Amino acid sequence: MAGTLGIFGICLLCAGVHMTSGMTVNIPDKVYKIGRGDNVVIPCTFTPSTSLSSISWTADPDIKDDPEINVVGYFTIGSKTKVYNKYKGRANMEVDLLKGTANLQLQSVTSADTRDYECKVQDPDDEEGRLSDKASLVVLVAPSQPICNVVGKAEYFQNIELTCRSEEGTPTPTYKWQSYNVNNVPRPLPLKASEQNGALSLVNISMDTSGYYICTSTNEIRSAKCNVTLRVDPPSLNMASTAGIIGGVVGVAVFVGIIICCCCYCRRRREKAEEYAMGTPEGGEFTDKDPEEREDDRDEHVNYEEERRVKSADRLDPPDDRSERSYDRRSDYDDRRDHYTDRRDDRSDRRERYDRDDRRDDGRERYDDRRDRYDDRRDHYDDRRDRHDDRRDRYDSDRYDSRDRPPSVPPNKPKEPRN
Ligand SMILES: *[C@@H]1O[C@H](CO)[C@@H](O)[C@H](O)[C@H]1NC(C)=O
Ligand SMILES: *[C@@H]1O[C@H](CO)[C@@H](O)[C@H](O)[C@H]1NC(C)=O
Repeated sequence: MAGTLGIFGICLLCAGVHMTSGMTVNIPDKVYKIGRGDNVVIPCTFTPSTSLSSISWTADPDIKDDPEINVVGYFTIGSKTKVYNKYKGRANMEVDLLKGTANLQLQSVTSADTRDYECKVQDPDDEEGRLSDKASLVVLVAPSQPICNVVGKAEYFQNIELTCRSEEGTPTPTYKWQSYNVNNVPRPLPLKASEQNGALSLVNISMDTSGYYICTSTNEIRSAKCNVTLRVDPPSLNMASTAGIIGGVVGVAVFVGIIICCCCYCRRRREKAEEYAMGTPEGGEFTDKDPEEREDDRDEHVNYEEERRVKSADRLDPPDDRSERSYDRRSDYDDRRDHYTDRRDDRSDRRERYDRDDRRDDGRERYDDRRDRYDDRRDHYDDRRDRHDDRRDRYDSDRYDSRDRPPSVPPNKPKEPRN
């Protein structure tokens, strides 16, 4: 064991002696990743040598075959460091000749700094060494807040797509959807759902599909989310048909209204015509007596009516005319009294007839009765006259009333004489 170690050590020593004869430049990693805006250091080591003249960092051009871009150089003469224009203010090289390090510093990197960098040592005395090494710098960009959208109609039986996309992200983010029910409890995605490039396809959706859908956009350095609230509604009528239905309903209502108005108008006109045609007021319809009595009563009605009017006219006349007028009236009245007396005679005759029938007492009572009834009827008649006038005034509003009233029969119509 010890012997083996000893041989290994000797070999190492021999190798070291051999290496001093040739320069070695080394960048430890092939790729360096850094977040955008951060500062990065790309290390470079070399075999210390008193004979090296300069160390430089160069970058690959955007376009292949273009000349390489100078970043920063170190010159042993005067220990001078030169930062080239393109990197002024944000690039530097840390050189330690004794340790053999020449690290590149870049500040506030951007996506444009993503490229290959080369560390080169120039040593005029070294003819066989490997004098440079290369590495890649990748500037990473966190995914931006993804934008989520619902593509399609969120109604029963529809197929829709939930989309999710981050505007930036280096490397390109990957997307993943998760579902929560309306009570915010996680649940598996629907069975027929499929996910591709951030688009979640949902087929034949229903109320159960409603809930929250969260998309997570992730790349190497960070992740970001968006949140879609999906509410699936029953199929709705589209705007055009809704407007059509409303318009139709309004049209029908207007039409019906016009018809009703026409009917009312026609009916009113017809009723008017009918009432005028019927014409005669219900004044003298005492048809429930034997003809003889009716004649008498009617005459007496008229007489009493006239008398009443005369009296009321007297009351209303101014005092001057009054005496003369009242004289006329009085003589008029006397005539009437005469007339009335004649009638009384008539009645007396009739009474005598009753007497002759040996029913004198009976007849007298009946006569008195009839007188009373006659007075009553006269009042009733006046009443009806007034009512009739009234009705004519209020013709329109009262017409239903007058139509519906039962045929006017005096409430106290006299009974047939008990002959
Ligand atoms: C969609 O789902 C309903 C029940 O929710 C079902 O009756 C219907 O057949 C389905 N349609 C299709 C095309 O799968
Ligand atoms: C999604 O949004 C809803 C309502 O805005 C909220 O209640 C829910 O917690 C959110 N979910 C997540 C994971 O942010």
